Amino acid sequence: MAATVDIIKLGSEGLQVSKQGLGCMRMSSGDGPPKPDPEMISLIRRAINSGVTFLDTADIYGPHKNEILVGKALKGVLREKVQIATKFGITFKDGKMEARGDPAYVRASCEASLNRLDIDFIDLYYVHRIDIRVPIEVTMGELKKLVEEGKIKYVGLSEASASTIRRAHAIHPITAVQNEWSLWSRDLEEEIIPTCRELGIGIVSYSPLGRGFFSLGPKLVENLLENDYRKNVPRFHGENFEANKLVYERICVMSSRKGCTPSQLALAWVEHQGTDVCPIPGTTKIENFNENLGSLSVTLTQQEMSELNSLVDAVKGDRSPFMGNTFFNSETPPLSSWKDE
Ligand code: ATR
Repeated sequence: MAATVDIIKLGSEGLQVSKQGLGCMRMSSGDGPPKPDPEMISLIRRAINSGVTFLDTADIYGPHKNEILVGKALKGVLREKVQIATKFGITFKDGKMEARGDPAYVRASCEASLNRLDIDFIDLYYVHRIDIRVPIEVTMGELKKLVEEGKIKYVGLSEASASTIRRAHAIHPITAVQNEWSLWSRDLEEEIIPTCRELGIGIVSYSPLGRGFFSLGPKLVENLLENDYRKNVPRFHGENFEANKLVYERICVMSSRKGCTPSQLALAWVEHQGTDVCPIPGTTKIENFNENLGSLSVTLTQQEMSELNSLVDAVKGDRSPFMGNTFFNSETPPLSSWKDE
């Protein structure tokens, strides 16, 4: 029997999504053996038919290939059955990652994503990273126009500071903030989550499986290929890794006590954070998708939530090698700094 997946309201503007989404990024990433399009398309369709209808992609995944793949998977699927989230704002310049949020770029990116996805409108269009040269009011002004033109329905932000979220929301309501949130990535709980809740903004958790660590533990890290960006994650190195292995072991003990898998326990922890929270685990395998879907049937008591919270106090190391740069928790510049050319 097909499982039923709850529908939740994301934000206050009317978007409704499945309680768990599907992160599609890795279906088109260059690391690991190639993932054949037909298999990935059947995985996406399988997710939709199972009730996981909230699909997450971005122009930079692939780059571009992932949106094309998602577009192909949508052929023959009722448009109103799915919620398509994509993102703009990360580009490469001279081999270096850069954020862009100037109006001309916003518009051109949106048109290009619509073309690649081959759809008439994007349900949720995120600013992927904050351009610290462009006041968020300027970026939001163009996004607001795109909403008025019907090209996008709802607007989201990713890895913005609380004050950036607030300033953006004053120009046009933000529907969702997408940040890394998992058992071991909790920095957003201090300021970002309270700000979202005060403003009625939904929260989308990326990397809810700790980039796979809560699924496979040390095996994941030991088998990473040379070109996998996770190789550089500080948590997977040296004494951090040794400490984090112990955390994983304790998660495994708890999940076997609960009769679920470690992945399911990690996802259930996110899913229990509130009816305004939606994790988007990424997978390229149907069996893993099925397992992740099963987390929606795992019930955690308050005591179990506290147990998990205290268990991860022992986690060591940053969630990204780039925490010091302007790609995380980014502050937007003052509006007065903008000179329109
Ligand atoms: P990301 O943002 O990188 O997608 P994530 O959602 O926390 O982060 O974790 C994704 C990783 O977990 C991927 O490496 C994925 O690998 P597969 O494509 O092989 O599935 C892995 N993963 C996801 N669900 C899993 C599961 N149930 N069991 C094992 N690995 C899983």
